Amino acid sequence: MPGLSVAVRRLLFLAAMMMRDFQHRAVDSIKRHALTISLRSRKAQTQVLQEYLWIEEGAEAIALDRIPPEAPWLGKLVSRQLADEERHAKLLRARLAELGVASTRPPPSILRVKLWWLDRVCAPYKQAFAAGPVVVLLAVAAQLELTGIRMFERHLGVLDTLAPDDPTGDLLRSILSDERRHAKSCASAARKLLRDHERAKFDELCDRVAAVDRSFGITISLGYWVNIATTAFRDRAADRDIAIEKAAS
Ligand SMILES: [Fe+2]
Ligand SMILES: [Fe+2]
Repeated sequence: MPGLSVAVRRLLFLAAMMMRDFQHRAVDSIKRHALTISLRSRKAQTQVLQEYLWIEEGAEAIALDRIPPEAPWLGKLVSRQLADEERHAKLLRARLAELGVASTRPPPSILRVKLWWLDRVCAPYKQAFAAGPVVVLLAVAAQLELTGIRMFERHLGVLDTLAPDDPTGDLLRSILSDERRHAKSCASAARKLLRDHERAKFDELCDRVAAVDRSFGITISLGYWVNIATTAFRDRAADRDIAIEKAAS
């Protein structure tokens, strides 16, 4: 930002860091609370798993599917990760079936809006790298994998503290170890394709992608909390009604 003094730039940088930290903490507390509430209701737990399924079959798979196999090593990486995402979706569907959910719902429109917004933010960078738009697609895939890691780590943290024997824990641990590998391999594949002078531009792109992810985070997590809390509340009210009916008969 030309024309700004060093002190003002430092202040703006500090404010941006504080905002980033606030957004992460807000999303984490809202979702952690929703996950805690969900433990009281089977239906609410299925809603949580349904959201993971949207991410596995939607955001993560779409991001990888768009990556052209520019080189054999990249083609191999993408097909291996797509096979992992398919396995994650199967595991989630199997757990949902165990919990009594046979069919699943389509994703909410806000997830499609987020992908559209990511495309919009990334558009100016598509021709910015000698290796082509593949660099941008890998940056987006790496960010979505990082978001998945935070989401599964948070859920496991709640389960380890409050419900260590819940079978969902093993399922999430198995998915999480793949997601950690995916995030690393997408980021290092992008860096492998970069020329030295493109690194600053790439970091700028990654910052912008992460900012979109954070800005949608609070809205999505509030909707998530309302859905989970409403379902858990209805479920408890229904259980109470059944108990009253039984006591009266
Ligand atoms: Fe996945
Ligand atoms: Fe993944």
